[in-house]
Amino acid sequence: MSVDRDDVFKALDQVLDPVSGRSVVQQDMIQGLVVKDGHVGFVLEVPAGRGAQSEPLRKICEAMALGVKGVKSVTAVLTAHEDQAQAPHEHHHRERPKPAVTRQAPPPPAGLPGVKHIIAVASGKGGVGKSTVAVNLALSLSRLGLKVGLLDADIYGPSLPRLLNITEKPQSDGHTLLPIERHGIKTMSIGFLVKEDEAMIWRGPMVQSALTQMLNDVAWAPLDVLVLDMPPGTGDAQLTIAQRVPLKGAVIVSTPQDIALIDAKKGIAMFNKTQVPILGVVENMSMFVCPDCGSAHAIFGHGGARETAEKLRVPFLGEIALVPRIRETSDSGQPVSVSAPDSAEAKSFLDLAKQVAASLETAARPAPKIVIE
Ligand SMILES: Nc1ncnc2c1ncn2[C@@H]1O[C@H](COP(=O)(O)OP(=O)(O)OP(=O)(O)O)[C@@H](O)[C@H]1O
Ligand SMILES: [Mg+2]
Repeated sequence: MSVDRDDVFKALDQVLDPVSGRSVVQQDMIQGLVVKDGHVGFVLEVPAGRGAQSEPLRKICEAMALGVKGVKSVTAVLTAHEDQAQAPHEHHHRERPKPAVTRQAPPPPAGLPGVKHIIAVASGKGGVGKSTVAVNLALSLSRLGLKVGLLDADIYGPSLPRLLNITEKPQSDGHTLLPIERHGIKTMSIGFLVKEDEAMIWRGPMVQSALTQMLNDVAWAPLDVLVLDMPPGTGDAQLTIAQRVPLKGAVIVSTPQDIALIDAKKGIAMFNKTQVPILGVVENMSMFVCPDCGSAHAIFGHGGARETAEKLRVPFLGEIALVPRIRETSDSGQPVSVSAPDSAEAKSFLDLAKQVAASLETAARPAPKIVIE
C-alpha cells in the first residue's frame, strides 16, 4: 500500500518540541520529507546549539512516523542551524529552496577538532577508481604510521560497506557515532547506517545534513588525516562539499583516456574555484598487467594523466596499474594493501601515500588558474 505524505506530517504534528511546547511541524522543524515505497526520510532541524540534546526528539519523530500505516522504515537526520542570528520567520515552507551555489569562494570552513588534515579523493568522471584509490591510500597512510580515517562521502552510492566488508551498524552514545575500525583505520559511510534504497530517495537537504553529521558528529579524533571518498561528478553536491569541508587538498584520480582527462580537468577547476589546493593527479588503470605472462599493455593509452598534470602545473603522483587482483580484493572486502601488502600494486599505493603524506607537510600552494576549453 502507498503511504500518504500528509499522513506522515499528521503523525509528526503530534510531536511537541520540549523547549517551545509547540509541534515540530508547526515550527517548520521537519524539512525535506520524502516517502517512497514505504520508506520515509526527513531532516529534523533544531535551533543552533540544540543539536546534541535533540537526539531523543529525533527518536520520537522516527517512532511516530514509523507508526503510520504502511511505513516500512524511517530515517530522520538531525541537524542544527549553523547561524545563531538566523531569523526564525525565514522558514515558512516545508521545502526550502536549494541553497544557491555561488561562484565566489566563501570563507574557509572551520576545521574538525582533533583532525589535522582532511583530504578529498575526487575525479570528474564516475568509475575511474576513486573509492579503490581512497581505501588503499587510507590503508597505506596508516602503514606509514599515521592515524587515519576514511569517510565515504558518496550518499547515493556508498562503497565502503563492500570494499571493507562491513555489515555491522556503528554504535552511538546518544551524542556521537563511533566510527567502525578496520585494519587500523576509522571509517564511516551512510551505507553502515541505512539500507541502500533508503538513501536513494533523499534530496539535497538530507544529503547535506547526512554529510555534515558524518563529519561533525562522529568520534574521529584524534586523526592525522581524514580521507574523503568523493561522489562522482562536479555538480552542486561536490561543490558544496568542497566549500563546506575544510579540505587541506584534493587528490584527483583519472584513467589515461582523453575523456576521463577532460573530466579530471573539470574536477581540478572545481577545487580551484573553492581554493582547495590540488595535491596531485594519479593515473589509475594505467597499464594492464597480464596475470599470466606478466607483460604490461596500455589498454587505455598511457601517460595521459602525467601530461595533463604537467600542463596544468599540478604534481603527478604516480600510476596504479590495471590489475585483476585490485578488483578481486576490492570485491571481497580485503583491499590489496592489506591482503597482499608485498605486491607491486600495494607498493604503488604505498608510493602514492608517501607523496600525499609529504605534500600534507608542505604549505598549501595556491591553485593554478585553469581555463577549460
Ligand atoms: N587499478 C585497478 N585495477 C583493476 N580494477 C580496478 C582498478 N581500479 C578500480 N578498479 C575496479 O573498477 C571498478 C570501479 O572502481 P571504483 O568503484 O573505485 O570507482 P569510483 O570512481 O569510486 O566509482 P564511482 O564513480 O561509482 O564512485 C571497481 O570494480 C574496481 O574494483
Ligand atoms: Mg566511488
